[in-house]
Parts: sequence; C-alpha cells; structure tokens
Amino acid sequence: MMREIFKAKRGLHGEITIPGDKSISHRSIMISSLADTPVEVTNFLKGADCLSTIACMKAMGVDIEENGGKILVKGNGLHGLKEPASILDAGNSGTTLRLLMGLLSPQNFLTTFTGDSSLQQRPMGRVIKPLTMMGAKIVGRNQNKNLPITIIPAEQKLKGITYQMPVASAQVKSAIILAGLYADGVTAIVEPYPSRDHTEKMLTAFGTNIEKNGNEIKITPIDKLTAPQSIEVPGDISSAAYWIVLASILKDSDVIIKNVGINETRTGIIDVMRQMGAKIDFINERVSGGERSADIRVVYSELHGTTFGDEMIPRLIDEIPAIAVAAAFAEGDTVINNVGELRVKETDRLKSIVDEYNKIAAGAFEATEDSLIIHGVHDFTKAECKTFNDHRMAMSLAIFGAAAEGVVIDNPDCVNISYPTFYDTLFGDT
Ligand code: S3P
Repeated sequence: MMREIFKAKRGLHGEITIPGDKSISHRSIMISSLADTPVEVTNFLKGADCLSTIACMKAMGVDIEENGGKILVKGNGLHGLKEPASILDAGNSGTTLRLLMGLLSPQNFLTTFTGDSSLQQRPMGRVIKPLTMMGAKIVGRNQNKNLPITIIPAEQKLKGITYQMPVASAQVKSAIILAGLYADGVTAIVEPYPSRDHTEKMLTAFGTNIEKNGNEIKITPIDKLTAPQSIEVPGDISSAAYWIVLASILKDSDVIIKNVGINETRTGIIDVMRQMGAKIDFINERVSGGERSADIRVVYSELHGTTFGDEMIPRLIDEIPAIAVAAAFAEGDTVINNVGELRVKETDRLKSIVDEYNKIAAGAFEATEDSLIIHGVHDFTKAECKTFNDHRMAMSLAIFGAAAEGVVIDNPDCVNISYPTFYDTLFGDT
C-alpha cells in the first residue's frame, strides 16, 4: 500500500495533542507488573510496540485491564511472574525484548522470544554479554547475537557486577538494572554518556534505591516494590519532534504542542533546533512521577546549519531522521557525528536517510560509517520513497514531503508502532 502526502498549503496553527511516551509506557507496564498493589496508568501509548509489552506481561500471568483510556495493572509482586505457555513475541519492539531479557534472566522459568523480521536482525549480544556476566543463561541464533533467544533459569542467584557500557543505550542499561533488582549485591553501570533515565526514575518512584553519580548508576537489590497508585505518562517528545520540525520550517507556523515530556535526557532536539535558530518555548512546566513535562510553543523561523555529536546523540537518537529534515531547510551545512547507532535501529537509518531523502532533495544528504552530513538546499522534488517499514522513517518522510513538494510513501501504516494518530494530525487543521 502507498500513501500520498501533499505539499502543505499553510503553516501549523492551534494546538496539537500527542500520544503518551513510548519508553515510559513500556516501563509503566513492566514495573507495575512487579508490584503487589494495582497501578492505574493514564495516557498510556496504545502503539503496537507497547501493546507487545502488554501481551508479554499478560502471558506471564499479570492481570492487565483496559478501562477507557486507562490501563489497570494488577501485578503479583516482584517474584510473581509465571512461566508463559508459549513463545513471547516482541514484534518490532527492541525495548520490549531487551528490557524483558533483563527482567527474565533472574526468573526460575524458561522463556523464548521471537520478533518481526526487523527485530530478528538487530543486535542482542550487547544485552546478553552483561547479563551473562551476572550469571544469566541465554542462548540465541548466530552465536547468541540474534532472535530467537531463549533464557534458561540460572543455576544460582545472579550476582551484582560493575559494567562499563561500550555504547550509551537505555535499553541495555535498563536490562541490567532490572536484572540487578534480583541480584546478590550491588550492580554498577557506567555509561559513556547519559542515556534516557526513565527506568531509574520509575523504579525510584517504586521505592528502589538507585544512585546516580556522573555517568555511573548503582542499583541495590530489593525484596518488594512499593507502588504508587497511578502513573501519568507524559506525551512523547519523539512524537512531538515531527511537529517541532514541521512548524520550524513551514512559513507562518505558530503552534502549541500540549503535554510533552521534557526529561533532560530526551530534550536534545530542543537544544539542537534552538542552536539552528528555531523559536521554541516551554509553557506550563510541571512534574509528575519524577518526569517533567510542558506545553511547547513553536514559531516558524529561518534555520541555519549546525554541528553536533558525542553526548548530544543519546539525547536525540530517535529524532535524527526528523532533525535531518530540518537541516535540509537550513542555510548551510549540518554535520551530525557519532551516529553509528542509527545503523542498528528498526532499519539502517543512516543508509535509508541518504537513499530516500536524496530523492526529495538531490545531493543534500551524505553519510560516512558513523556521521550524517546535510547540505542545506532550497530545491525539492515530489518523490516516491521507501519507509523500510520503519515508523520514524515514515513520519519523517511525511513531514519532509509536506514541507517540500509532496511525497508518496510505502507501508504508511508502520506509524502505528509509536503514533497511531499521526496522519489525523498531519491531515487535520493543525
Ligand atoms: C529506548 C532506547 C533507545 C531508543 C529506543 C527506545 C528505550 O534505544 O532508540 O527507541 O525506551 O529505552 P537504545 O537504548 O538502543 O539506544
């Protein structure tokens, strides 16, 4: 199936409501499943990825009910997960798979995971290595690198380790933290740069002792979580990213994006867009469950190129396909360094950006093994582009086409992974 996105006739105006944060939605279900008392989750993202997490937790005996817009999770305690009757399917979701590998490594039952064709190609050795150091028994295809993966009950209690992570990855960090909850002794993780810290924040709200010292995180095992009665999931800044970029490059735009999570480990896009000359303001800042959120006002402005990399990358890793669109509308060159991780996302996003975006803006995008260079251009063509079934490629191409001369994309429904109402907002008044 193909979908045509037309050139926008005017700028973005009014208010946009975005769905709940994907990372926090996953964690709200997994961590609430380990509590002894029910937790009500509001503004949960009902995207395919988070529904994969719900299905996996239900398969392990957790009672999860949907009540209107709310999800009620009735966990059976920290030691209450049950052996699933069949293989767990993580679908397209790296977060479901990697975090659950950590959570299930200390359990006394066997689990096997599968996933879709994209997830089957993605590297799992990065999670298996530290978990194995803790004493977990995990086997996978291709010398334990890929799905399908089986977690065999460990002979002994896992042990706390000190682990220096080679790449900043919240999924790997979270897997180790979840395993560390059940370990013998303290587990320390050192990241090259801080990645998103939603697991740490949520576990702290559930009474766990997690210390953060620079790039080091220490987790002390616990016997029982003390759950809050409810968790309010803020809107997803990764979903807001499409409107932040579109409003910044579409003339006459002046829009307010409501209730966006602005956790420091996620706001790289705001910093970089401001660096490029974007006009972005936070209104109504508030805190809930340790997570900050705000309404974000974005007003059109002329952008210029910039250079960034290193510690900025984990703070905007999922927004690079959208930021690359903004860079195409900016004056001068933009250079994004240290982005090799993009090659192991839902698709090779560096290659996909260069191959597909250049169909809209010929010669504007170049990549090396781990960097992306964008030459600001002002000539665009209408093109037919491939999404590679990657939700963020689809949404970034859609806003690119809307701001340029239109675009036709394949597999448009892959946006359901993180943003089921994306086209309603794109084609609506705002
Ligand atoms: C996520 C972490 C990031 C991100 C992904 C969600 C998470 O992945 O790209 O979309 O929820 O922990 P990595 O940890 O592999 O960088």
